[in-house]
Amino acid sequence: MADLNSEFEKRKRDHIRIALDPRAQSSVTSGFDAVELVHEALPDLDFQDIDSSWSFQGHALSAPYFISSMTAGHDQGRDLNRHLARLAQERRLLMGVGSQRRELSDPGAAEEWRQIRREAPRAVLLGNLGLAQLIRTPGDQVKALVDNLQAAALFIHLNPLQECLQPEGTPQFRGGLKAIERLVKELPVPVIVKETGSGFSAATLRRLDGAGIHAVDVSGLGGTHWGRVETQRLEESDFRSQAGTAFADWGVRTVESLLHAKEVRVSYQLWASGGVRNGLDVAKSIALGAQAVGLAQPWLRAAMEADPERALHRLADRLDYELKVSLFCTGQRTPAELRATGRWTWRNS
Ligand SMILES: Cc1cc2nc3c(=O)[nH]c(=O)nc-3n(C[C@H](O)[C@H](O)[C@H](O)COP(=O)(O)O)c2cc1C
Repeated sequence: MADLNSEFEKRKRDHIRIALDPRAQSSVTSGFDAVELVHEALPDLDFQDIDSSWSFQGHALSAPYFISSMTAGHDQGRDLNRHLARLAQERRLLMGVGSQRRELSDPGAAEEWRQIRREAPRAVLLGNLGLAQLIRTPGDQVKALVDNLQAAALFIHLNPLQECLQPEGTPQFRGGLKAIERLVKELPVPVIVKETGSGFSAATLRRLDGAGIHAVDVSGLGGTHWGRVETQRLEESDFRSQAGTAFADWGVRTVESLLHAKEVRVSYQLWASGGVRNGLDVAKSIALGAQAVGLAQPWLRAAMEADPERALHRLADRLDYELKVSLFCTGQRTPAELRATGRWTWRNS
């Protein structure tokens, strides 16, 4: 067990280090560069009228962007999560924690959340578990993950490519949709299904409709790419390393995934992430139908700076400002108005 735990910790540290390397970012864009919000030269608004707040399950939040799920279950992750959770509480932002898989085999791992809850008791946190683990875990143990964290919802992440390329991977997804349907019935909090950077086809979004989930976070191609991250962990002599190169830009772009959801007219909420890098990308995602928009790597980068608190607040300030400028310059007072009017077009070039 000690060996398994140290392997786990090394893997998590590798993921953080590699995610900050530019080679871990997809060379294909998310599609935001092809989308333009329609400029309004005569907004009937004052800048201070802009209201970008929203609410999730009765929690009042300051903005519709959130901290996407990243890490958990190891010392370095504990520090990162402390900084991120404090920011989430202070700025009233939603925060997803990384996979809680370790808590399934190591009851001591839940201590991380007790520490974080002492520092950020009011942060609105979302739990996280991979589909491969969900399929094999009894409902009461999954519920315990939500309770340990006092989570407002649970993300189930889908990562078939990563599971294939990771030497320790578990590409066993048979029965996944049924497991999600069962979980929705058993869990007292909403279930949100997310990808991890490879997006969704229209057919998959349609299959998820009817499962009773609260939302899908498309987490599409264009940002951090797990084919690339896992490939960098492999020895060059490993045949999977070459395979990883072949799959280096595998997936459905974030913008395409959002358009698929519109086409299918899904009944659950649509959330966006995958290569969102500024407040204008947040606004474009909202115009394309997203209720909430996640960023992972930019928060990670800020949280790793010498003064993480300052860097995280600066990033949040910038995102707030860019989102509000996007709203003002499209003449929309709120994200909900922007979503309803859908003021976007394809860029001509
Ligand atoms: C270091 C790191 C660890 C991650 N771990 C998880 C995880 O445990 N569970 C999960 O659902 N997604 C995880 N992700 C994926 C992100 O939530 C997100 O879907 C993906 O990185 C795309 O967003 P980005 O382009 O803004 O980084 C992780 C991302 C990073 C950068």
